[in-house]
Amino acid sequence: MKIFTSKADLSNFLNGVKNSSLKIGLVPTMGALHKGHISLIDASKKVCDLTIATVFVNPTQFNNKEDLLKYPKPILCDLEMLEIAGCDIVFNPETNEMYQDGEIWDYQLGDLNTVLEGKFRPGHYLGVTQIVFKLFDLIKPDIAFFGQKDYQQFLVIQKMNMDMNLGIELKACPIVREEDGLAMSSRNVRLSKYERREAITIYQSLVFIKENFLHYTIEELLLKAKSFYTHPSLSLDYLVICDKHNLNEKLQNDKNNAIVLVACNVGDTRLIDNMILS
Ligand code: PAF
Repeated sequence: MKIFTSKADLSNFLNGVKNSSLKIGLVPTMGALHKGHISLIDASKKVCDLTIATVFVNPTQFNNKEDLLKYPKPILCDLEMLEIAGCDIVFNPETNEMYQDGEIWDYQLGDLNTVLEGKFRPGHYLGVTQIVFKLFDLIKPDIAFFGQKDYQQFLVIQKMNMDMNLGIELKACPIVREEDGLAMSSRNVRLSKYERREAITIYQSLVFIKENFLHYTIEELLLKAKSFYTHPSLSLDYLVICDKHNLNEKLQNDKNNAIVLVACNVGDTRLIDNMILS
């Protein structure tokens, strides 16, 4: 596995090996890897000739400084996991390699920027598109792999890919869950033993909605599922059923193309999850 920290070195290497038939797969990550990330490496290795993972904690997508400072950075462990998974190349730059002082990134994300995560984490997706655009531009992958767990992020990147005519194939890979159903996340390590036990409520509420989707109205489903969140360590930011194509909230009882999305603070740790319903 080759490790690059400079854009120029990675670019030179890629220019040397690229040819029209070599399929490049990109797995962008912020490190603190878990099995969910490794499933993206596996997915890339299945269909691509060269799999590149990026490990970069992108400061522009954090609207909360403390969250950025607290973000885990177990780089040695990440590299070991990537090596074992058979990743070909890792790009692990420093912040000043990716950003210059006073850089401006202005991209109109439309409604996706103001709903759900966009509303609770202002500027988050602007930062995500800023770094993902830089990585796409540098690596020029044929296919880029993202987890379905941040479903809104996938829609945002899909929109950027179309708006800017980037022509990259985007794949959303299924959410990987712990044995009890909790979606794998780099943030799960921050949960105390007690919070970890309560965090399972998130999955249980999604499963309740999925299993009862045809039996109740959307209003009833949400009301009943929200009543799961009784423990004082749980504080819901949202639990909504939306159209899976544009994340418009389903206010009428329309059950086509539906997805349920949730964001919940478990103690000080904010977790997100979702499940496609139809
Ligand atoms: O999903 C993530 O880990 C990040 O948002 C991404 C796509 C690597 C951009 O920093």
